[in-house]
Amino acid sequence: MSGTELARKSAVTRAKRRLEDKLGPWAVFFKGFVQHPVMVGSIIPSSRFTINRMLSRTDWDRCKLFVEYGPGVGTFCQPVLDRLRPDGALIVIDTNPLYIDYLNRTIHDPRFTAVLGSAADVETIIKDHGHDGADYILSGLPFSTLPDGIGPAIVDGTHKVLRPGGAFLVYQFSAAARDFMAKKFERIDSDFEPLNILPCKLFWGHKD
Ligand SMILES: C[S@@+](CC[C@H](N)C(=O)[O-])C[C@H]1O[C@@H](n2cnc3c(N)ncnc32)[C@H](O)[C@@H]1O
Repeated sequence: MSGTELARKSAVTRAKRRLEDKLGPWAVFFKGFVQHPVMVGSIIPSSRFTINRMLSRTDWDRCKLFVEYGPGVGTFCQPVLDRLRPDGALIVIDTNPLYIDYLNRTIHDPRFTAVLGSAADVETIIKDHGHDGADYILSGLPFSTLPDGIGPAIVDGTHKVLRPGGAFLVYQFSAAARDFMAKKFERIDSDFEPLNILPCKLFWGHKD
């Protein structure tokens, strides 16, 4: 590729990013849905009611590492960072490069790390970032539509890396996630948030 072509290509990329930033996170989220509908599983991000209800049972004083699977455009990221202690860390993992790129461009907090990868590799990912365990793991993954074997692998890995006393926080439109969680977590609390599109179920799997 010639120098002129390269310059034209990077100018187009920059213009596309500026347009995405202007349109805001919802447009980026929708674009990710159009590209990978099964992996994203929702057309708009979670509501603030879901965020507040899901995070309300976290003991923030004891939380050194918070991990999020499937952050999308970061709907939960700033609310988690707002509650996280100054020496805490938030690692988010998503398979979609569009979302990881957007998060890296829009969230500037030394406690925040966005990783392009699968939640099924959580053990390796947190080790690579210098952690031996997580206190809380939050998931917005569409468990019912994940490829075969991925849901159980994610629940196994999650249970393994959670520290005793930690919890797996899951929100989903269906109860499919609870069935996966029940294979590893003996104590699961549940709740419901009607003010979300679509109304969603919330679960907390405790590692006692
Ligand atoms: C319903 S969206 C969640 C959006 C966001 N957390 C919210 O509250 O608005 C599901 C996300 O899971 C991601 N995803 C799907 N499979 C994944 C996997 N195996 N590991 C990590 N992320 C995954 C998708 O790319 C998408 O960002």
